[in-house]
Amino acid sequence: MRILLDKFSKSFGATKVIEDMDLNVGSGEMLALLGPSGCGKSTTLFAICGIHRPTSGRILFGNRDVTSLSSQERNVGVVFQSYALYPHMTVAENIGFPLTVRRMTAAEINKRVAEIAALVHIDNLLDRKPSQLSGGQQQRVALARALIRRPDVLLLDEPLANLDAKLRLEMRSEIRRLQKETGITAILVTHDQVEAMSMCDRIAIMKAGEIVQIATPSEMYNDPRTAFVAGFLGNPPISFLTGRAKQGAFALDDGGLKLPLAALSGIPDGTALTLGIRPEHFGIGGDVPVEGKVTFAETQGRENLYDVVLPDGSALRSIQPARSDVKPGDSVRWSLDSKAALVFGEDGRRL
Ligand SMILES: Nc1ncnc2c1ncn2[C@@H]1O[C@H](COP(=O)(O)OP(=O)(O)OP(=O)(O)O)[C@@H](O)[C@H]1O
Ligand SMILES: [Mg+2]
Repeated sequence: MRILLDKFSKSFGATKVIEDMDLNVGSGEMLALLGPSGCGKSTTLFAICGIHRPTSGRILFGNRDVTSLSSQERNVGVVFQSYALYPHMTVAENIGFPLTVRRMTAAEINKRVAEIAALVHIDNLLDRKPSQLSGGQQQRVALARALIRRPDVLLLDEPLANLDAKLRLEMRSEIRRLQKETGITAILVTHDQVEAMSMCDRIAIMKAGEIVQIATPSEMYNDPRTAFVAGFLGNPPISFLTGRAKQGAFALDDGGLKLPLAALSGIPDGTALTLGIRPEHFGIGGDVPVEGKVTFAETQGRENLYDVVLPDGSALRSIQPARSDVKPGDSVRWSLDSKAALVFGEDGRRL
C-alpha cells in the first residue's frame, strides 16, 4: 500500500513544525525518516498514523484519502519506543488484544496469534507475562501486536532505542525480514544513521521540518546534496575543511593545501568553500599529499582511527587497517583521494 503525503503541514498553536511536506512511500517499501532531535520525525509519523490531524494537506493510503480518518479506521500497525505491553496479560493476550477489541471469536484469535507468534519467533513464550521476557522478546511481542490486524502500513518510532547494542543489531535484521516477508509498507523513524542505512530501501533526511534529501542509502552516502546530509551519514563522520576557490582548486587560507577539483572550474577565485573528506579517503592511497600531526589514535580492532591536524589548525580524520607504527604526536604525510572529495558552497549546497 503506497503512502502519500501531499503538502502536509502541522502546527501546534503558533509553532509551525512541518510545512508543505511531500512524500511518496512506494508499496512494499521501507523508508527511514532520519534527522536530529526535534526536526519533526515523530510529528510526521503521528500524522500518518492518525494521532495528529494535519493542519493542512492530505494523507493518502493507496488512492484512499485517510486525512480525516481515526487511527482505527486507517488500519495501521504501530510500534513506539516504549512499547507498553500490558503487564497483567500473557504474551498471547497482549498480541491478541487488538482482535479481542474487535470481538473476534476466541478460536479465530488463537489461530491468528499462533501464526503471528511463529512469524516473529516467540511461539514458545505465549504463556509468559511481559516481565518474564528479555527486552528483545518484549520488542517482538510489540511487533506481533502491531502486525496481527494485518495492517496496510507499519509505522515504527525509534523501536530499538531501548535495546542494548547486540539486541539492536539482531532486531534490525529481524524487523527487515518481517517487513520483506509480509510485503508491508513501512516507515521507520530514527536518529541512528546506521539503523536507517542498514534497514531501509530509502532514507529521507529531515532538518527543521523539511525533507532535505530522499535517496537510497548508497546514493545518500556517495552523493549528498548538502553538507548537512554528508555530515549526518557516516561513522566515523566526514571531516570538513574550509577554504576558498583559487584557479579551479580548493585552497586552505594559509596556502597549505591546494586541491584541483573538476567541480570548481568556473567558480570565481575567492569563493568560500567547504571540502568534505570521508575518513576512508584520507590515509592510504589517494593522490594529494597532506602534511599534519596526529593528535588522536584509536584502535577499533580491525581498523585504526586517527585525527590529523594540519598546520592551519583544521583537522582530517583517517580510518585505515590496524597498524602500530603511528602514535599521537607523530608528523605524517598522508594522501587524500581528490576524486572522492565533496565540495560545498557557503550555503552548504554541493557544487
Ligand atoms: N504536542 C505538541 N505541542 C507543541 N509542540 C510540539 C508538540 N509535539 C511536538 N512539538 C514540537 O515539534 C517539534 C518536533 O517534534 P517531534 O517530536 O516531531 O521531533 P522528533 O524529530 O521526533 O525528535 P526526537 O528525535 O527528539 O524524538 C519539536 O520542536 C517539538 O517541541
Ligand atoms: Mg521523536
